[in-house]
Amino acid sequence: MCGIVGYIGHDNAKELLLKGLEKLEYRGYDSAGIALTNDEGTEVFKEKGRIADLRKVADDNDFDGTLGIGHTRWATHGVPNHENSHPHQSASKRYTLVHNGVIENYEELRAEYLSDVNFLSETDTEIVVQLIEHFANEGLDTETAFTKVVSMLEGSYALGLLDDQDNDTIYVAKNKSPLLIGVGDDFNVIASDALAMLPVTNEYKEIHDHEIVIVKRDSVVIKDQDGNVQDRETYTAEIDAADAEKGVYDHYMLKEIHEQPAVMRRIIQEYQDCEGNLKMDKDIVDDVAAADRIYIIAAGTSYHAGLVGKEFIEKWAGVPTEVHVASEFVYNMPLLSENPLFIYISQSGETADSRAVLVETKKLGHKSLTITNVPGSTLSREADHTLLLHAGPEIAVASTKAYTAQIAVLSILSQIVALEHGREAEVDLLRELAKVTTAIEAIVDDAEKLEDITKEFMDDTRNAFFIGRTIDYNVSLEGALKLKEISYIQAEGFAGGELKHGTIALIEEGTPVVALATQENVNNSIRGNVKEVAARGANTCVISMEGLEKEGDTYVIPQVHELLTPLVSVVATQLIAYYAALHRDLDVDKPRNLAKSVTVE
Ligand code: G6P
Repeated sequence: MCGIVGYIGHDNAKELLLKGLEKLEYRGYDSAGIALTNDEGTEVFKEKGRIADLRKVADDNDFDGTLGIGHTRWATHGVPNHENSHPHQSASKRYTLVHNGVIENYEELRAEYLSDVNFLSETDTEIVVQLIEHFANEGLDTETAFTKVVSMLEGSYALGLLDDQDNDTIYVAKNKSPLLIGVGDDFNVIASDALAMLPVTNEYKEIHDHEIVIVKRDSVVIKDQDGNVQDRETYTAEIDAADAEKGVYDHYMLKEIHEQPAVMRRIIQEYQDCEGNLKMDKDIVDDVAAADRIYIIAAGTSYHAGLVGKEFIEKWAGVPTEVHVASEFVYNMPLLSENPLFIYISQSGETADSRAVLVETKKLGHKSLTITNVPGSTLSREADHTLLLHAGPEIAVASTKAYTAQIAVLSILSQIVALEHGREAEVDLLRELAKVTTAIEAIVDDAEKLEDITKEFMDDTRNAFFIGRTIDYNVSLEGALKLKEISYIQAEGFAGGELKHGTIALIEEGTPVVALATQENVNNSIRGNVKEVAARGANTCVISMEGLEKEGDTYVIPQVHELLTPLVSVVATQLIAYYAALHRDLDVDKPRNLAKSVTVE
């Protein structure tokens, strides 16, 4: 989703901003722009499409500076075009602004203050920059006008503002949307994600909602709403810049699929003490163990990981668990138990839908735990506790290694809570996760075979179904999501037994149906469902597990513990999705319309 970068120092800002925006490409966007300020004033370059298009326009122009802001836009208010792209400027062009998020009261503000001003874009952002100029024209200095306007805004925002009469300041503020200040020696940067500016600095300061930040070449001053200066320590972003590169792989997604065994090993290491026992912060275990019911809140792939997590928590720890889509839960909260605990699962830790629920459940006084890949992310900072995924940066929009990491961490949490409840450990989890690691390795080594399977089942189709029963049903949802996200094949996951109650009407000669068959207690029934669709012409692809396989199965995964099969079978579906998109010549890492980090509700 939208990304912001900014630079103020002594080097060529144009190049640094373009490079920073390239690092944010993975978040998803449909237009991009930069603004540079020097002694002559401010110049804006913006383009619909890719950063490469913006780079051409910017490079064709000699205007440069050592101060600037940049933006990638994922359209919400108004189509992706030149006018709606950021940065936006005030009527006289004195002020230039980039914004992430959604200003909810922009129409009211416009009607009240700016009904006679001609707006150039359809965005909710333009009101902010026009309003700053309005108050500056009334005599306020820029910092006061900015602070006043920020206090009037409702909704979510991360803002970076330039004033062409001052080429030593970027004005910054945020509410709900992420934004960091990176500090350097005689320069400072702003970024929605530390990854964007990592080549320049790995020292960052967090800013809190409603704070105003005055960023100059040699200082960063953070103020609260009343103008009181706030002390803020810097922290070092522990990201290896090389982790964010593609290396030998053609795509980030392929790299991330291949990284899954290494991620499993890292998780095993991080959640194990020196005697080889599972370990976790005692406060987290106490709070989770004290809950009478667990509510898992998440979106997209993380929601699918939550569905698998519920199985462990209920079966191993014996705690009733509900899994909810964040965007629905916030408007339609079910009757809660007396002593609930909320688990927020989010790769990015920034998903606005999940954050909206966290804000509500905090108001109600309920404990919260975030499971995320990004330390210091909004959901991590705002929840009572955090468990990290240790998966390394996930750049491809389609989530792969974060899903398996989320499930692995949930399995460890469930086992530890089970022990805390005085239950016997049902499995030697560390040993079983080690087996899972080897099994995933075997599948990624088998990529060629999965590419052939993709050719046979997916290359010539417009739609596909994934079916499974019990825990395989959860994987079928994720398998279908992955396929549709990047190959644009219309794909749906169904409970094997439910297909015949309606959807089977869509099965035609050659329709691909991928069936997951890794569970002993439903092996015969899922195979019955496969026969039902095959009898109606479906092209059936059965992914089963050693020990349960039958003659003619398309792909057989190595044997692992029955509740941990999603960690392994999903990898086969990830590769099928990857090759389906590749064979269609699509942009695997940056699928259309999608954003990696969805920071609007
Ligand atoms: C977006 C991404 C999905 C992701 C979902 C939740 O929709 O495109 O890949 O699963 O957000 O993201 P989160 O960061 O909260 O896991």
